[in-house]
Amino acid sequence: MSDATLDGRFTFLGSSLAIQRIGYGAMQLAGPGVFGPPKEPDVAVAVLRKAVAAGVNHIDTADFYGPHITNQIIHQALHPYPSGLVIVTKLGARRPPDGSWQPAISPQDLTAGVHDNLRNLGLDALDIVNYRAMGAIHGPKEGSIAEQVTVLADLKRKGLIRHIGLSNVTAAQVAEAQAITDVVCVQNNYNLAHRHDDALIDDLARQGIAYVPFFPLGGFTPLQSSTLSAVARRLGATPMQVALAWLLHQSSNILLIPGTSSVAHLRENLAAGRLTLSPQTLAELEGIAAATVAVKH
Ligand SMILES: NC(=O)c1ccc[n+]([C@@H]2O[C@H](COP(=O)([O-])OP(=O)(O)OC[C@H]3O[C@@H](n4cnc5c(N)ncnc54)[C@H](OP(=O)(O)O)[C@@H]3O)[C@@H](O)[C@H]2O)c1
Repeated sequence: MSDATLDGRFTFLGSSLAIQRIGYGAMQLAGPGVFGPPKEPDVAVAVLRKAVAAGVNHIDTADFYGPHITNQIIHQALHPYPSGLVIVTKLGARRPPDGSWQPAISPQDLTAGVHDNLRNLGLDALDIVNYRAMGAIHGPKEGSIAEQVTVLADLKRKGLIRHIGLSNVTAAQVAEAQAITDVVCVQNNYNLAHRHDDALIDDLARQGIAYVPFFPLGGFTPLQSSTLSAVARRLGATPMQVALAWLLHQSSNILLIPGTSSVAHLRENLAAGRLTLSPQTLAELEGIAAATVAVKH
């Protein structure tokens, strides 16, 4: 598969990190509930190797996936890492033995999290670290993140982190962080049916900051829509490919990190970069968010 099928490149602001717009999210490589080892470790390794062989050079991870296991699989599958591979990780949570998701946001937690990532990924420095605010589970909540961002900025000065991003944050929290340090990416919940960040995406695009939707396919409850299925049928594509292509059409600062534990789904997702959506099709897809809002109210 050539680079062209991954729908162009993006360079993170103020960096030399240039990546394909379609990357890979590694969360699905851990066991059920993102906890413990995968059922088929060999398949997890194969998915990562196939992704990189196909041209993917942006992998999203966290040391709290597993915990530790996803990063260890990345290490096993890809180390020594090919030049140009950008691994983006995140801090802000921990997974106690009961499998729950707990905040890990003290200076000690964040520093230990950086060292966990470095050790398990086999790196001397982390390309990009997102501070993942734990406000609400899959949505942001207002409140200061200055203390945590300041810790990350210190770790950047020490050379352990090259660039800083944010996750699960509001526009006000982005602005607060930018007063402390440069922010190169924002990773929030966004997809065809979940459009809360439309204005934030435009604002970040104006600044050259990447917007990286998590749950691009709907996450734990994959997107289902008769409109999406009808469009996909008409284009000879799958609904998931249309959902990803729609994101690529939304804004040039959107980078994709669809997650999958399957080689077949990986191939399908990477091929979404080849889909062109006409203005009429885009208008039709707009109706999905409107219908979702109508159902919720
Ligand atoms: N910052 C955060 O708070 C946060 C939160 C969640 C996720 N993330 C990151 O974002 C990435 C993407 O999110 P996600 O993995 O949770 O959700 P997602 O990409 O929206 O969807 C993943 C789900 O879709 C299925 N899937 C993937 N490709 C498919 C295809 N072509 N056809 C049918 N089903 C398909 C996967 O199952 P199969 O395994 O069977 O393919 C999995 O159940 C994660 O991997 C993670 O790196 C970040």
